[in-house]
Amino acid sequence: MLNSRVARFGACVAKHLSKRTYASMSRSPYILTATNRCLQPPLSFNMLYNGAMIKKHSFFSTMTTNNTSEEGGDKEETISVTFVGKDDGETHIKVPVGMSMLEAAHENDIELEGACEASLACSTCHVIVMDVEYYNKLEDPIDEENDMLDLAFGLSETSRLGCQVIAKPELDGIRLAIPGATLR
Ligand code: FES
Repeated sequence: MLNSRVARFGACVAKHLSKRTYASMSRSPYILTATNRCLQPPLSFNMLYNGAMIKKHSFFSTMTTNNTSEEGGDKEETISVTFVGKDDGETHIKVPVGMSMLEAAHENDIELEGACEASLACSTCHVIVMDVEYYNKLEDPIDEENDMLDLAFGLSETSRLGCQVIAKPELDGIRLAIPGATLR
């Protein structure tokens, strides 16, 4: 019984689809049921049909919400970094997580050389972490960085190469001094 009604419903939909454009159908998916008696389904089918429509709308609503939250998730996470220059002048910048301090300095017109472009072949990106607390949060330097630091002018206990210090949430608030001179 239900099967034959469903078949009749399908036949009527096909008939009207041939007369109407897809656009008008998509604007008003209920138009056939509203204007054609032959498409009035039994109550149980109507509920099923409307249930499907409701689920469809719920689905799109959920997707919209997810997209919004994904957009929120895409928002770039940054940390606050202060560079203290050769003249003791301070520059406060926001640095995206994952960016090196050398890149961040260059993007903000801070005078920090990077002669070898982060290939660990110079010490011109030498910086001094001003607080031991932050220095201890950094990854240990690899041998190549230590080799280059040995050549750095004004080496201190908390010296690092700026191209090897990568922004991460724990470093929020870090202060980096740029030595008065650098050796290539
Ligand atoms: Fe040369 Fe960092 S830019 S080691």
